[in-house]
Amino acid sequence: MFADIQEKITQLTKELNEYNYQYYVLAHSAISDYDFDIKLKELEALEKQYPQFKDPNSPTQKVGGDITHKFNTVKHRWPMLSLGNTYNEQELRDFDERVRKIVGDQVQYVCELKFDGLSISITYEQGKLVRAVTRGDGTQGDDVTNNVKTIRSIPHSLKKNSYPDIFEIRGEIFMHHAAFERLNKKREENGEQIYANPRNFASGTVKLQDPKEVAKRPLDCFLYFLYTDRRNRLFDSHWDSIQAIKSWGFPISEHTKLCQNIEEIWAFINFWEEMRHQLTYDIDGIVIKVNDYAQQEELGFTAKSPRWAISYKYKAERVETLLKSITYQVGRTGAVTPVANLEPVLLAGTTVKRASLHNANEIARLDLHVNDTVYVEKGGEIIPKIIGVNNEKRAVGTSPFVYPTLCPECHEPLVRQEGEAVHYCLNEAGCKPQIVGKLQHFIGRKMMDIQGLGNETIETFYSLGLLHNISDIYSLKEHREELKTLDRFGEKSIENMLTGIENSKSKPFEKVLFALGIRHVGETIAKKLALHFKSLDNLAQANVDEIADVPDIGIRIAESVYHYLRDERHVQELNRLKLAGLRFEMEEQEVVAAGSNLTGKTFLISGVFADFSREELAQLIESHGGKMVSSISAKLNYLVAGDKMGPSKLAKAEKLKIPIISDKEILEMIIQNT
Ligand code: IVH
Repeated sequence: MFADIQEKITQLTKELNEYNYQYYVLAHSAISDYDFDIKLKELEALEKQYPQFKDPNSPTQKVGGDITHKFNTVKHRWPMLSLGNTYNEQELRDFDERVRKIVGDQVQYVCELKFDGLSISITYEQGKLVRAVTRGDGTQGDDVTNNVKTIRSIPHSLKKNSYPDIFEIRGEIFMHHAAFERLNKKREENGEQIYANPRNFASGTVKLQDPKEVAKRPLDCFLYFLYTDRRNRLFDSHWDSIQAIKSWGFPISEHTKLCQNIEEIWAFINFWEEMRHQLTYDIDGIVIKVNDYAQQEELGFTAKSPRWAISYKYKAERVETLLKSITYQVGRTGAVTPVANLEPVLLAGTTVKRASLHNANEIARLDLHVNDTVYVEKGGEIIPKIIGVNNEKRAVGTSPFVYPTLCPECHEPLVRQEGEAVHYCLNEAGCKPQIVGKLQHFIGRKMMDIQGLGNETIETFYSLGLLHNISDIYSLKEHREELKTLDRFGEKSIENMLTGIENSKSKPFEKVLFALGIRHVGETIAKKLALHFKSLDNLAQANVDEIADVPDIGIRIAESVYHYLRDERHVQELNRLKLAGLRFEMEEQEVVAAGSNLTGKTFLISGVFADFSREELAQLIESHGGKMVSSISAKLNYLVAGDKMGPSKLAKAEKLKIPIISDKEILEMIIQNT
């Protein structure tokens, strides 16, 4: 019996550590928060009863996950603790009773929304933002200062006020739904991996190595906690500290309430359970904090969390429906995605017909059978997820879904490479969705942007045998007469299309590289490779390690590029494209411009700035190699414009077509170079 228990503890420990790693390091988790907590509680109970089997690295001992190693690691001056979770009214009432037993009945609580993002700790010294650190494992985290500085709502320097000389302020970074959907759509169009929910997007963004890219992704933040020496002398309560934080210029949530008793807390929880769908960002619960600092001190902490606060977690909305079938979609890169077709059902305000299943592991993990009744959940994700099967409703004698061994489109064998979860069809040259998908990708707006040639035409030309390889696009002009005989193709539209094709030959190398549709090479990666290697010939000579040496290019991408360039069919196709006149090298001026160093650049500052005095800004520019000038001329590289800038200067700069930039953009340029 003991062996069984020991095994159970080992298995739960392993499983939960893996989920923690996925959540905190990879910013993606395969389990719902609720199921995670249930498993954690199960492990906690077993460890309590059988401490002899407890692993010293048990997830019950940790606040969060590991730290990623790309940034400098910084120790938190005050550890970043987590909160105890409750899921029902009784557990919440128990919390209130525990509190009142210790501090008496005169207790007030602050109820706040529990934002679903990633927590951040920001240090200010003499009113200036000096450091921003992620939670990491609670004791130490990643220094992500440069990335956090790109968040518009976080002040870099505070207006004169009565803030302490040194303080740390904590809050949650998140992404609004609208930005999430817009950016994800763009990623999809660019053939980049999309994020499952705004939290993963926000977390993935804060952990990027390139602050300029971070600046392009609008993040937001609410601050909800203050640490400083002698805090209790400055304020009596959490509520007072939050009001002060607001007056210092920090964004705090307006949906915060001071509650006098558990009934008011419960009403706040119920109100937001409904209303949370009206917010422009995700929350996953409510945080309840004892307001009075003296009472907080009396209550103290457990090893992991304060006894004076707790969170109430909302359950993701869940419904039951019938799983009718699974279809397997083949994408442009040959990746196969299983999709569950469901009996339509209403969930969180929309009708759901399909659910994503990710890959074969997911189907096996869920043990899905034909005609199962499944639970479908819509958490933060836009696409609903199947999270389990109602076994009681499973008919006898049903069989599990078997993952196909052949491609559903071209019937060639599917391959799953070691360490990868996804199946691929490798029949690149003979599988319709791959051929058509690659052609459609190539002509896309962000790639070669071929005017006059659309996705439908690509399909038609493919069926007629006019297009197969990308290079066939550049031979279409040889089929002019044949094209004229086709229905729906007037002479004018054919000429437009052929002109569009000719014009695409001047697209820069980075676009060509992106347009080729190499697996894992999205827009940003293509740009980085083009900038680094400067020509296809250089890239083709590089080995995997040399490619992986480029910042932000991992080994998986490097291997994909390396193998792509060694495939004989690709080599021949690239030669045909070279002969057609496409650009496979960067031009000198593109290389220089993209370096964006302040060295050798001239700047003129005009107007007033919220975060800097003009002298401070000039010093900043000069300390990074830029040169200040005093008048606008054609030689000026940038006009840095603040508020209240004189109209004549503006007009002159516009006339000379001098780029007008903000102080934030200067910071972005500087950050990128450090
Ligand atoms: S207070 C010691 N307030 O939830 C107090 N946390 O499970 C620590 N969170 O790590 C946090 N909204 O990332 C607090 N209004 C809020 C919050 C909040 C979201 C997150 C935060 C924290 C986690 C705790």
